[in-house]
Amino acid sequence: MSSGGGQPADSGHPELTEGESDFVVVANRLPIDMERRPDGTTSYKRSPGGLVTALEPLLRRRRGAWVGWPGITDGDEDPIYEDDLEMRPVALSADDFADYYEGFSNATLWPLYHDVIVKPIYHRQWWDCYVEVNRRFAEATAKAAAHGATVWVQDYQLQLVPKMLRMLRPDLTIGFFLHIPFPPVELFMQMPWRTEIIEGLLGADLVGFHLPGGAQNFMILARRLLGANTSRANVGVRSRLGEIQVGFRTVKVGAFPISIDSEELDTKARQRSARQRAKELRSQLGNPRKILLGVDRLDYTKGIDVRLRAFSELLDEGRIDPEDTVLIQLATPSRERVQSYKVMREDIERQVGHINGEYGRVGHPIVHYLHQALPRDELIAFFVAADVMLVTPLRDGMNLVAKEYVACRSDLGGALVLSEFTGAAAELRQAYLTNPHHIDGVKDAIEAALAQTPDEGRRRMRALRRQVLAHDVDRWARSFLDALADTRDGDTPRSE
Ligand code: ADP
Ligand code: G6P
Repeated sequence: MSSGGGQPADSGHPELTEGESDFVVVANRLPIDMERRPDGTTSYKRSPGGLVTALEPLLRRRRGAWVGWPGITDGDEDPIYEDDLEMRPVALSADDFADYYEGFSNATLWPLYHDVIVKPIYHRQWWDCYVEVNRRFAEATAKAAAHGATVWVQDYQLQLVPKMLRMLRPDLTIGFFLHIPFPPVELFMQMPWRTEIIEGLLGADLVGFHLPGGAQNFMILARRLLGANTSRANVGVRSRLGEIQVGFRTVKVGAFPISIDSEELDTKARQRSARQRAKELRSQLGNPRKILLGVDRLDYTKGIDVRLRAFSELLDEGRIDPEDTVLIQLATPSRERVQSYKVMREDIERQVGHINGEYGRVGHPIVHYLHQALPRDELIAFFVAADVMLVTPLRDGMNLVAKEYVACRSDLGGALVLSEFTGAAAELRQAYLTNPHHIDGVKDAIEAALAQTPDEGRRRMRALRRQVLAHDVDRWARSFLDALADTRDGDTPRSE
C-alpha cells in the first residue's frame, strides 16, 4: 500500500513532502469524534451523519488514510492509527469552528444547497476563513498522499480543495463527491463567490453527485460562469458521464447515488438479539398496535416538524387512535449553536410537548422523543420494531436512514413513508411517496402505511429490498473509483 515517501513533491512548494498513502479520503470530519472529559482526558465516539456511515467501512477495507477534523477545537495533529485505518487530523481553532464550520459551511452553503429552506447568510469573514481552512486541508492531504496517489475529496465543506490540491500536487488523481443536493442554477447564482467554488470543484478529475439533476446543474454553471465547453448535458446514473473542458484538461461529471452496507445491516437485523430487543422495546412502550419511527440528525431539512404536524392532525381528526399508537423520534444533536438549528429545536420540542399534553396519559406519552445518538445495535432494534418509518425531509441529498430501514426488514414487515424530495425517492419507488409541503398528502400517506394489508406490505418491502441489497455502498464506491481511474487511463493530460 505504500510507495517511497519523503521525497520532495514536484509542486513548486519545496517545503511540501509526499506521503505514503496511495488512497486518501479527505472529509471535514474524521470518522471518530473526540470529546474532552472534564478531567482533561479525551474519549472517542462515532461521528454523526451519513457521510461517515457510508465511508468508514469502505476505507477500513481499502486501508487508506483519512484526512479530517477530529471534532474538538485546537486538537493536535498527530496521526491516529486504529486497526487498518490511518487518520490525519486537521486542527480547527475556535474561530475556524465559528467561521468555517458553523458559518460558511452550515449557515451559508447548507441552506443554499437545500433549496434555501432557511435564508443563507453571506458573510465575507466566513468566506475568507473557508478559503484558509480549505488550504490547510489541501496541504495536509498533499503531505499524506504518495506520488501518483488517488485522493477522494468529500462534500460541501471542502469544495476548494480539488483546485488547491492540484496546484500543490499535479501528480495526483483527484475525485470529488458532493453528499448533499447541488442546487438549481437560479439559487446557486446568489452565491457571491460562485465562480471560485465552481473553479475549485473543477480541480478534480471527476466530480460526482447523487442525482443526474445535480450533475446537470453543475455543468450548466461551468458553462455560464466560466464559458467552459461541455458535452453530454444529459448526464445519467453512473455510466453516462458528462465532460467539461477546462483549458487542456477534461473534467468528468456524473451521478453516483450513495448507499449503505446493506448486507451488514441485513445480517445484524436477522440476529436473535436484535429481534429480542425489538420485542422488548415494544413491550416497554406498552405493546401498542402500531409504532411509528423517525431517525434523523436534528436538522431543519429533515421535516421532523412536518411529520409531527401530520401526526398531530391525524390524532385531532380521530384517524389515529392514541390508545394503540406511539411515535418515536430519535434525533441526533447537530450544529447546536447555529441560530436556525436552535429555533427549529425549540419548535420541535414544543410540538412534542403539545401532542403529549393533548393525547398522552401518565406513564404513556404518545410521542417518545430522544435528543440522543443511539448505539448502532440499538438503532437496528428500533428499525426492526417500527411498523411505519417516517422519512419526510423537505430536501435531502440521499437519506441513508430510509435505506437502513429497508435493509433491516428481512421479515418483509413494516412500511416506509418517504419524501419525494430525497435522493432515495429516485430508487425507492415502492415506498409511500409523499410531498412534505402538502400536509394532507403526508397524512394520507401515513394513514395508508398504517392500514396496509400484510400482503401489500410484503409486496412493497420485497421490491424495496431488491433495490437496496443490490445497490450497496461498495458498488457505489467501486463505480466512482472505477470512473476516476478511467480518467487517469485516458489520454487526457493531468495538469494544465
Ligand atoms: P445525514 O447525513 O444528513 O445526517 P442520512 O440519513 O443520510 O442523513 O444519514 C444519517 C446517519 O446517521 C444514518 O446512518 C443514521 O442511522 C444515523 N443516525 C441518525 N440519527 C441517529 C440517532 N439518533 N442515533 C444513531 N444514529 C443515527
Ligand atoms: C451530512 C453531511 C456531512 C456531515 C454530516 C454531519 O451527512 O453531508 O458532511 O458530516 O451531515 O454533520 P456535521 O456538521 O455534524 O459534520
